[in-house]
Amino acid sequence: MIAVDPADWGSRRRRRFPPEKWASLICKAVWDETPDVRTFLLTPEDGSRIEHDAGQFMTLRIATPDGIVERCYTIASSAARDAGIEITVKRQAGAASGHLHDSLIPGARIEAFGPSGRFGPVSWPGARYALIAAGSGVTPMLSMLRTAADRGIVLDAVLVQVSPDHTDMIATQDIALLTRRLPGLAHIPVTTRTPGALRPTSDLLTSLIPDLADRTVLCCGPQPFMAMVRAMARDAGVPQESYGEESFDFSSPEAEITPTADTPLRNVTFARSGKVFACAETTMILAAVKAAGLPLPSSCARGMCGTCKTFKHSGEVTMAHDGGIRQREIDRGFILPCVSRPLTDIVLDC
Ligand code: FES
Repeated sequence: MIAVDPADWGSRRRRRFPPEKWASLICKAVWDETPDVRTFLLTPEDGSRIEHDAGQFMTLRIATPDGIVERCYTIASSAARDAGIEITVKRQAGAASGHLHDSLIPGARIEAFGPSGRFGPVSWPGARYALIAAGSGVTPMLSMLRTAADRGIVLDAVLVQVSPDHTDMIATQDIALLTRRLPGLAHIPVTTRTPGALRPTSDLLTSLIPDLADRTVLCCGPQPFMAMVRAMARDAGVPQESYGEESFDFSSPEAEITPTADTPLRNVTFARSGKVFACAETTMILAAVKAAGLPLPSSCARGMCGTCKTFKHSGEVTMAHDGGIRQREIDRGFILPCVSRPLTDIVLDC
């Protein structure tokens, strides 16, 4: 039984959940969306408010039998919400998501980091949107729609939601309600495994959204799906600056450059533990950390989530991130080891 705080019924000013350090969330409620997708309502243990933009994600620290892992989950709830967030998670066999489904029950605590990411209308402003999602890729779209409805934003959007069948379609009743609250929203569900189903090809998507070139296109789903939508958008004439995508399918991480015998090796020193290991100039520091068997929290390994953010005491790196670190943090000396290669010997605050 979770104790009810009477203040939860009122409107009180809440301080901001610390976005740059791990802090504890409490699971307040859990409900099933589909047979293998579950939504978790999480609120900061310290009573703070998670300030986020529609489309951002949180990184959660999950205990598994193989140890602690960090994973990114999009916030599905409205950015206008006062306190907690909802994350909507598909159970995948053998993955951390299965442990979340099994262990994150009302009253349980979980460490979280964020919010992070720059997927959504704040980074891709537009007058008209095409939101194209496959499976649980609909979750950032849900945050956008719920935020628009809560804030009275006049939204002109087409949501194409692709799922294997109707029982796998997430939040359909919520979306039906949102189409009433947002008169400019059209919802087009596409099933791929029902009798007579159509394949979600670029021809199909182009026929569903004939004015695609006039819209800002935001896409979220598995990598092959996004590659298809990206090509379709390009062929339809969508400018590059009007196309955004996000995926937490990290099955195809950025290819490493294989070091040769001539590639210089740099020493990486963990200042606190005193550990020292070698990292080739062409190798991401996080990869070298893992190869050395040393602990360093990480999740996306693509410079998106900020989980691996680490203070660099000395040395030079080359870093190409994807929104996981702010310029002021770089100016203060922080790096993302997952997307940083050493140019000199370096010392990290680990
Ligand atoms: S692990 Fe996500 S930014 Fe490094």
